[in-house]
Amino acid sequence: MSRKLYIKTFGCQMNERDSEVIAQLLAQEGFATTSVQEEADLILVNTCSIREKAEQKAFSLIGSLREEKKKNPSLVVGVIGCVAQQEGEHLRSRMPHVDLIVGTQQIYRLPAMLDRLLSGMTQKEIATNMESSFSIPPFQKLLVNNEKTAITPGFKQFVTIMQGCDNFCSYCVVPTTRGREISRSVRDILEEVELLVEQGVREITLLGQNVNSYGATNTVDPRPVSFPQLLRKVSAVQGLQRLRFTTSHPKDLSEELMQCFAELENLCPHFHLPVQSGSDKILQRMNRKYTVESYLQKVARLRQYRPDIALATDVIVGFPGETDVDFAATMRLLQEVRFHGSFSFKYSDRPHTRSTSFTDKIPEEIKSKRLATFQKEQNKISLQRNREYLEKTVEIMIESILDGEIKGRTATNHMVHAAGNVDSLLPGDLALVIIEHAGNHSLKGRLSE
Ligand code: 5AD
Ligand code: SF4
Repeated sequence: MSRKLYIKTFGCQMNERDSEVIAQLLAQEGFATTSVQEEADLILVNTCSIREKAEQKAFSLIGSLREEKKKNPSLVVGVIGCVAQQEGEHLRSRMPHVDLIVGTQQIYRLPAMLDRLLSGMTQKEIATNMESSFSIPPFQKLLVNNEKTAITPGFKQFVTIMQGCDNFCSYCVVPTTRGREISRSVRDILEEVELLVEQGVREITLLGQNVNSYGATNTVDPRPVSFPQLLRKVSAVQGLQRLRFTTSHPKDLSEELMQCFAELENLCPHFHLPVQSGSDKILQRMNRKYTVESYLQKVARLRQYRPDIALATDVIVGFPGETDVDFAATMRLLQEVRFHGSFSFKYSDRPHTRSTSFTDKIPEEIKSKRLATFQKEQNKISLQRNREYLEKTVEIMIESILDGEIKGRTATNHMVHAAGNVDSLLPGDLALVIIEHAGNHSLKGRLSE
């Protein structure tokens, strides 16, 4: 009987992708992934430390596993991801029931670490070193070795093109938890995409903390290319229906990249462009290296190249020193751009970040009030934006089919629920839907005949 692995993943798509890689690495060691925590022989918590709340969630789950371990002493408990990277030593003393601590760039060591633990050679394993070159094992090797465990990719997959970040935004923990920026080689990326498409993958999302600076910083490629050049190469892979990327930094968004939206047919008209604040003073204190005006100019250019593009953003409210006037500027920016959607957060101090030492912190009540004001306005705008799709026919890629209802996403990344004759349809298929109802977060309609 095979052993069972349960992974709980918190945080961003980087973590989601790391969890997939780990599941594949461990499948080769005879671990089958389960979605039922109680039946697991190995529990891995893939943690996020981007905001205080995310870290607390991870700590509370890890803490609760102490009881599980008492009930089942042979259970192996591991912590991976950004909290493991940052709090490795601290975790070791604070959570003695944790057997395995693996940093963000050491996941490929997991099989050997587990072997040592399971054979009783060691009682505890910890690896949190940072690597100087790309540390994620190439996907194609995993797939080839994996034939016997028959892990097949879904119809959409992430492909990591770079790791780490060199930007040091003053609030952000990522440069510490994920290390310096390193770009992966073009050949590796293309090989992975080609193999995935051959295996039936139809949608690829290129992943990195700041994909716009791909190839511009440390790279393992002897002949590096820019991100727009990479995008053109990936877009040309025969059979790839949809191409996306995330995340972008406005300062590195080039004219050439914007042009790609006009030229590449399979590049989806959806762009996540985190702005963080609508006040130049705050942007400067955040070390973002762009102004509101330059951001707005880029938005206008993007819309010239691709009028149907849907824009999403991230916003932090209550950054140290944010006055009512600064917050009003963020609200103005929201009303001017009218983002299709956004992720908004209350500022929280993170370890080893510059803003932690800023003295003009904003009280919690004001942060909460500003967040509620921002989210209320965003919801209103999202609903208005979604209503623009009423009566229109959109193309969705089907994600699931349940009880005669299908769920899927448009190229603009809108979630659509649709009813109709689903008999001949499968997940991954494209279908046309006539939109009949628009909510804040999704659209509803019927399948077009
Ligand atoms: N406090 C609040 N939000 C943060 N983010 C990053 N660091 C912090 C922090 N210290 C937000 C930013 C980023 C998103 C992933 O998380 O908006 O774009
Ligand atoms: Fe963090 Fe800024 Fe890097 Fe994004 S660009 S990961 S916000 S430091």
